[in-house]
Amino acid sequence: MSSSSPVNSYLQLATAGVQMLTPYQPGKPVEELERELGITDSIKLASNENPLGASPLAVEAINKTIHAINYYPDGGGYALCSRLAEKHGVDASQVTLGNGSNDILELVTRAFLTPQHSAVYSEYSFAVYPIVVQAVGATAHVARACQENHASMPLGHDAEALLAQIDDTTRIIFIANPNNPTGTWLTPAQLEDLFRRIDETVIIVLDLAYTEYMDEQIKPPIRQWLQQYPNLLITRTFSKVYALAGLRIGYSLSSPEIADLLNRVRQPFNTNILAQAAALASLDDAEHVTKSVNMNNAGKLFLQKAFTELQLSYLPTMGNFISVNVKQDGMALYQRLLQQGVIVRPVANYAMPEYLRITIGTQQQNERFVETLASCL
Ligand SMILES: Cc1ncc(COP(=O)(O)O)c(C=O)c1O
Repeated sequence: MSSSSPVNSYLQLATAGVQMLTPYQPGKPVEELERELGITDSIKLASNENPLGASPLAVEAINKTIHAINYYPDGGGYALCSRLAEKHGVDASQVTLGNGSNDILELVTRAFLTPQHSAVYSEYSFAVYPIVVQAVGATAHVARACQENHASMPLGHDAEALLAQIDDTTRIIFIANPNNPTGTWLTPAQLEDLFRRIDETVIIVLDLAYTEYMDEQIKPPIRQWLQQYPNLLITRTFSKVYALAGLRIGYSLSSPEIADLLNRVRQPFNTNILAQAAALASLDDAEHVTKSVNMNNAGKLFLQKAFTELQLSYLPTMGNFISVNVKQDGMALYQRLLQQGVIVRPVANYAMPEYLRITIGTQQQNERFVETLASCL
């Protein structure tokens, strides 16, 4: 501040919620790390991206659309919403597009929360929930997660603990299934039991960013649940199995009434023209999804076996990542791996200081990671 400025600090002028916020810490771009470390062949297993890359159909759609980038996109995303509605067996009025599903998480807080309201989520759940809740000055009610020694779902969501955090001020409950960074999940029966016990005045945000990677028998029956629970808002993304993270596109499915409310706070052109075209085309490439999921399943088994051989325990996962207990300071080990060009995600910011979260890569990447890990331990 200049000495003549009447303002001591702009921090004091920010809203109370924003003053308390810690910004989300994204991983450094690979190019920057390589420059810093003087290496050229690093692998990034840090942000739960799809290592296979986007579907060729998506790339073709982008090439075909690129001539039109001087025009605004279709603000309502008519073609994509219609296709998504068809895919899920719902009406197009139930689909809301977001600049990544992250955007939807923010829209829902802006539509439903004020500083007088609260949102409920679990310990160790996705880092964006506290940010979007605090940004609007609302209160977070954080539910205790299952203990680390829990028989089947260590550090997973505890349905009873979540319910206990709901009170008269609560307008939203966030449930990530599977959750990031733990990879843990609730079964459809457990989720349904939870939904039945949540008052209709509370919006249930069921975050299904990784749902394509789940085993078939525990995939949520989306269409049926949307019919049964008018307070349900399901978020989905093209960033994970569809491999379009850099384009930023996701969506939600809800009742038309909730979709209408989200659309009131949504920027008119929140999803871009290339993202809409690529997302639409990707939906036609079921083979690419299957290939990605199969590769993920094989990679998961490979990493689990390797961790067992290294006598490291890991959390059960239904995502394209796995969190492993490295029995030492995760941040220090992360730095050592980094020096060898292997970029993973330390999760001390999630209060899991002895864990590292590893995105499941190609077989070659997984092998390089395991060899490097063994040498760094
Ligand atoms: C659980 C969960 N939800 C939502 C997102 C947001 O993804 P995007 O904004 O790319 O759709 C992520 C991304 O990592 C996630 O892990």
